[in-house]
Amino acid sequence: MVNVAILGYGVVGSGVAEVIHKNANHISEKAANEITVKYVLDVRDFPDAPFGMRFVKDFSIIENDPEVQVVVETIGGTGAALEFTKRCLAAGKNVVTSNKELVAEYGYELLHMARERNLNYLFEASVGGGIPIIRPISQCLAANELNEVYGILNGTTNYILTRMVRAGLTFQDALREAQAKGYAEKDPTADIEGYDACRKICILSALSFGSHVYPRQVATEGISKITLRDVGYAESGKRKIKLLGRAVRLPDGKISAYVAPHLVPDGSSLSNVEDVFNGIVVKGDAIGDVMFYGRGAGKFPTASAVVADVIDAAKHFKARKYLDWLPGGDDVTVDSAILP
Ligand code: HSE
Repeated sequence: MVNVAILGYGVVGSGVAEVIHKNANHISEKAANEITVKYVLDVRDFPDAPFGMRFVKDFSIIENDPEVQVVVETIGGTGAALEFTKRCLAAGKNVVTSNKELVAEYGYELLHMARERNLNYLFEASVGGGIPIIRPISQCLAANELNEVYGILNGTTNYILTRMVRAGLTFQDALREAQAKGYAEKDPTADIEGYDACRKICILSALSFGSHVYPRQVATEGISKITLRDVGYAESGKRKIKLLGRAVRLPDGKISAYVAPHLVPDGSSLSNVEDVFNGIVVKGDAIGDVMFYGRGAGKFPTASAVVADVIDAAKHFKARKYLDWLPGGDDVTVDSAILP
């Protein structure tokens, strides 16, 4: 049996517990092991604890239980999430996360720490929600030199822009809908100002080009200034406004990375990515363009990717070698100039 602990019982954490419970037989078969959620860590009280899980408020109970082999971190942010991730790895536990902020800021450090201990630090859910993108870039496209990755990386903003076009909703009304559907971050500033997409393009850059790119290095503009008038203007020119993140490796080795609203021609593949869906294009020298498309946010799509990582970790207790990148930082020059 593989015992799992979930840190944080919010939208994603509760989705993970539900999927593990609902698909228990199938998941255990895939993992070649029975997977049980032994603990959930949350500061809130859950008197009707579902699925027989033990809710705890003291992280050290999980840290000190040698039966817990896989920890799912869905706390978010870089405070407690960073501390607990480090303590889990130090205690010999594999860690799976959907926390893009943590991976974008500390991915190199945490991967390094995991590898030193021959443990997994897996984060398929950190980009694209339920869309497979981390493994495809790191494994399936490994034969290629990758020189560019771009696309719609934030479900909330894509949902807002779609509702402004399709239903004529104001930005604020569309945002409220996205929040009610559980797409947005706790503080939606990260979505609407582009910070969430920025974190994701950092992760994709690191995986594609091999060095850590930090969010502070990436010029970022969100959609909070977009009005219905802008949307109408785009429509009159047969275009749609889409928030895109893009990272390119330039011939001199520099990386150009940015997040900004774009006017995308109607009928193009990205203009047809609507609602909460994400569309991500990766360019490889052998394969050409590959596009990944699917639900980029939401409870179960994100849980789908997290649970796949749990299965992977349960099956391969030793570090998965395909996930790695160099420290980056000052060694990487990010040129944020917007390319034509
Ligand atoms: N708030 C994020 C989004 C969640 O809307 O894309 C998934 O990362």
